[in-house]
Amino acid sequence: MKTETVDVVVVGAGAAGMLCAAEAGRRGRSVLVVDHARAPGEKIRISGGGRCNFTNTGTTVANMLGENPRFAASALGRFTVADFVGRVDRAGIAWHEKTLGQLFCDDSAKQIVRMLTDAMRAAGVTLRLGTGVAAVAREGDGFALTLSDGTAVRCASLVVATGGKSIPKMGATGWGYDLARQFDLRVTETRPALVPLTFEAGLLEQTTPLAGVAVDAVVTAGKTRFEEAMLFTHRGLSGPAILQISSYWREGEAITVSMAPGVRVLERLKAAKAENGGKQAVHTALGHIVPRRLAEVLTAREGANGKLAEVGDKVLARLDAAVNGWTVKPVGSEGYRTAEVTLGGVATDQLDQSTMAAKSVPSLYFIGEVVDITGWLGGYNFQWAWSSGWVAGQAA
Ligand code: FDA
Repeated sequence: MKTETVDVVVVGAGAAGMLCAAEAGRRGRSVLVVDHARAPGEKIRISGGGRCNFTNTGTTVANMLGENPRFAASALGRFTVADFVGRVDRAGIAWHEKTLGQLFCDDSAKQIVRMLTDAMRAAGVTLRLGTGVAAVAREGDGFALTLSDGTAVRCASLVVATGGKSIPKMGATGWGYDLARQFDLRVTETRPALVPLTFEAGLLEQTTPLAGVAVDAVVTAGKTRFEEAMLFTHRGLSGPAILQISSYWREGEAITVSMAPGVRVLERLKAAKAENGGKQAVHTALGHIVPRRLAEVLTAREGANGKLAEVGDKVLARLDAAVNGWTVKPVGSEGYRTAEVTLGGVATDQLDQSTMAAKSVPSLYFIGEVVDITGWLGGYNFQWAWSSGWVAGQAA
């Protein structure tokens, strides 16, 4: 059997793995990156609608979830948003800020993938695609790996950058979690996050006619609230506000939705009723506040199909509550099939924040999404991948 010896093996050629490999290579380490996918950086390629929301100018630990989000502070402070943007600029990639500090490529997410593969090439990193890891064993201070093609590899440092479980169709596996457990490292409970929420059949019957309707909304779960766009779907609710809240929502809980935030709906409807003898149809008046289709569905539901003059203020108050105080219990989420990220992962108390190495196995590193650090929607997850990857790249 062929045996290769390298300083560092990185498993996973995603955002974190590629940046880490390039850094380790630049330090003069011999680095082998293996990935079972046919192309590197597939999630980068499809991210941000093909334009990759590669960071967020406002990234702090307040935008991170996990048992201990503060763990991320060290890496985020050492390889910052400005550091990554500097690399994007030096690679000649044009970008723009969309909203809420979200930075996107002007042209294509493929440019970010190319920037990372170029950096790996320049650093002498070997990338082996279509290759998984069949077995890992401790050997002295390092590791003995058997790759899926039967190759034996010895390495001093092993970096796990296999991401989370989201979108199994794209090659996501729970391999990183299994490897952590093999080395007796604690893994927190994992669940799909940044994911559309689904309704039970009875509720869906009411909301299906609204599929495709989008509103600017405030969505609240417990003490957490997000003000962003929300979209009705054939399965329930989606859009940025819902993806954000999905990371905080738990089965059995309700969310509260305001579909005309800041608008005094009852006062507006009463004022309209007072004009022209209340001749305006209720749904027309409400249609000036929320999208027309939503106005029609809500007025029909409240039995307010006629003119404003024909309905009492109690009905108008019910419409107000339906618009700005809609409390609804999703039955579940669309799961890993469509989730952008995985909440949970390798517990941060098992890792050294200054190197990303396991405290009990100092040459075993975990970076990116496989770690129990998950960002909000908006570029925060890539920034965590870059920062944690960079940190491990200085140490592995
Ligand atoms: P990543 O998932 O990027 O890479 C893991 C790699 O490991 C993959 O190449 C995989 O093939 C490989 N792998 C897995 N198991 C393996 C095994 N057993 N053996 C070998 N290889 C294995 N974030 C953001 O900040 N801005 C955005 O715009 C978006 N947009 C977005 C869109 C969509 C549709 C999704 C699904 C996700 C996003 N994200 C995002 C989230 C972001 O993509 C994610 O957080 C990072 O890619 C995580 O980087 P990692 O390197 O940790 O894992």
